[in-house]
Amino acid sequence: METKFWQVSATHPDLNIIKQAATIIREGGLVAFPTETVYGLGADGLNPEAVKKIFVAKGRPNDNPLILHIAEGKEILRLARQADGDPRVQQLISRFWPGPLTLVLAKQKIVPDEVTAGLDTVAIRMPQHLVALALIKESGVPLAAPSANRSGYPSPTTGQHVFTDLGGRIEAILESGPTGVGVESTVLDLSGNVPVILRPGGVTREALTEVLGTVELDPGLSDPRLIPKSPGMKYKHYSPRAEVFLVQGERAKVATKIKELTFHYADQGKKVGLLLTQESWASLGAEAEMLPAFYRRDLGSATQLEEIARIIYSELRKCDLQGVEVILTETYQTGGIGAALMNRLLKSAGQRVIKA
Ligand code: TXA
Ligand code: MG
Repeated sequence: METKFWQVSATHPDLNIIKQAATIIREGGLVAFPTETVYGLGADGLNPEAVKKIFVAKGRPNDNPLILHIAEGKEILRLARQADGDPRVQQLISRFWPGPLTLVLAKQKIVPDEVTAGLDTVAIRMPQHLVALALIKESGVPLAAPSANRSGYPSPTTGQHVFTDLGGRIEAILESGPTGVGVESTVLDLSGNVPVILRPGGVTREALTEVLGTVELDPGLSDPRLIPKSPGMKYKHYSPRAEVFLVQGERAKVATKIKELTFHYADQGKKVGLLLTQESWASLGAEAEMLPAFYRRDLGSATQLEEIARIIYSELRKCDLQGVEVILTETYQTGGIGAALMNRLLKSAGQRVIKA
């Protein structure tokens, strides 16, 4: 099929285009759209046949449930029976919605099994992006939407990324420029007594703790021997075609190790890409020029993790476009948004961390 590529202003979306996109959704088709985190691939979340098309277009395993996106907080009542009567839900909604927080709650019958992969819980969020909100409103239904990448690949943060992955496989793409957060929403499971983060993301554990008191992390996130409770977290994920290695240690030692590894892989005839912080480039100093690296990028300061999170998927994709075969990059402290950044980097590296 031919994929329509519509440019839409992120601040003043053209309602004519939104209406055409909403028609596609109501007729059971797929439309990719921007959110504040990453681009999503939307279908009518109450139409099982439309939802099934998402799995086909992405090549997504069937046991991986989808998030329903809504445009008004009160819509949650129609989708999650737990929403009425659980005071935590209201507190979280008023503090974090619209925004990068997904709530996992006991579902209502109206939610199809195709969305939840047969689970009795449903994941719901209200995105903070005018184009997403307008599309949901015009469609008149909750939008089931995973990240709009081919399954396993880094999530898309521009409409062009979506086109690269899904052009010809979906009806339309709404393009509004790069997304603001750059990594996906935090998935918070409220179906038990203690709130559990199933996927770290745009809303930090620290911020959630302020509202909820105790917030746990799914042990499956850090222990590779356990099966994560969020089905999506168990797959190989966020990986460019190039092999990714994370180098960890003190700044000066990281620089030395990167040097060593660059020579090692270049000797093997590999095209090495270096995605390093400003601090590491500074630490390498004049020697950086001598390295047999094929591609180099400065990710900015290690003290500005929001900025690194915002660009990381795009930088991984650029390495692929350049034909890089081995990516050497770093690890970060895991406070705040660092938790999400490190979770994604570890996955894209298949957990390969090299100690400096
Ligand atoms: O920021 C985001 O959340 C983006 C944008 C488009 O909204 N969406 C996104 O969707 O990242 P996706 O499908 O790529 O990731 C959804 C995650 C998966 O890890 C999935 O397993 C988990 O949420 N999930 C969905 N429903 C669940 C449920 N009922 N129980 C546990 N985990 C669930
Ligand atoms: Mg995804």
